[in-house]
Amino acid sequence: MIQEVIITTVNPQGVCHIAPMGVHVEADQYIILPFKPSTTLENMLATGHAVINYCDDVRIFAGCLTGHRDWPLLSAETIPGQYLSAALAHSELSLERVEDDQIRPRLFCRRLHTVSHRPFQGFNRAQYAVLEAAILVSRLGRLPWQKIDSELAYLRIGFEKTAGPQEHEAWGWLMQTIDHYRAHEVSDV
Ligand SMILES: Cc1cc2nc3c(=O)[nH]c(=O)nc-3n(C[C@H](O)[C@H](O)[C@H](O)COP(=O)(O)O)c2cc1C
Repeated sequence: MIQEVIITTVNPQGVCHIAPMGVHVEADQYIILPFKPSTTLENMLATGHAVINYCDDVRIFAGCLTGHRDWPLLSAETIPGQYLSAALAHSELSLERVEDDQIRPRLFCRRLHTVSHRPFQGFNRAQYAVLEAAILVSRLGRLPWQKIDSELAYLRIGFEKTAGPQEHEAWGWLMQTIDHYRAHEVSDV
């Protein structure tokens, strides 16, 4: 199974980096697959640790891809690292093994410690729509506009029926980024 989460890592100077990632979960093993180049990859290779943040505030997913990266952090309990204060729960990981690759290395991790902070509130279609739109934003320039536009048209249906204020803010950042990219691309031709 792949879980869409926020990975927090620190560099050797203790500066925290926040990035959405799809983590592959196989029994007790967590595999993180960052595309090179990646700050998450560099930090994990340097420190041997990462934190998985289980978050339903989708502004953090959208924010990391649209220039809003300043989210409140707290100190991890068993590793040198930090977790998001918005996390419903977080897991502290140690890096056990690396399978290097030119494009996308595989970082095999073991979970050392998990803390639950607040209850899961149930599924929400607008949150799903924001995650999918954030993935589209992460692939701007690599996907054809026809695919982006048709996927957004579908996602907008569930979004408009179920979004709350956080989802509206996140969606707004993503649409602004897409519009800006499109305008630039056209004016560059
Ligand atoms: C839901 C979601 C899942 C993502 N999963 C991955 C992933 O598994 N690997 C990856 O390299 N980038 C993934 N991305 C894109 C990264 O978050 C983004 O490119 C980020 O800048 C990663 O590079 P960094 O480690 O340098 O921050 C994902 C984005 C979203 C919104």
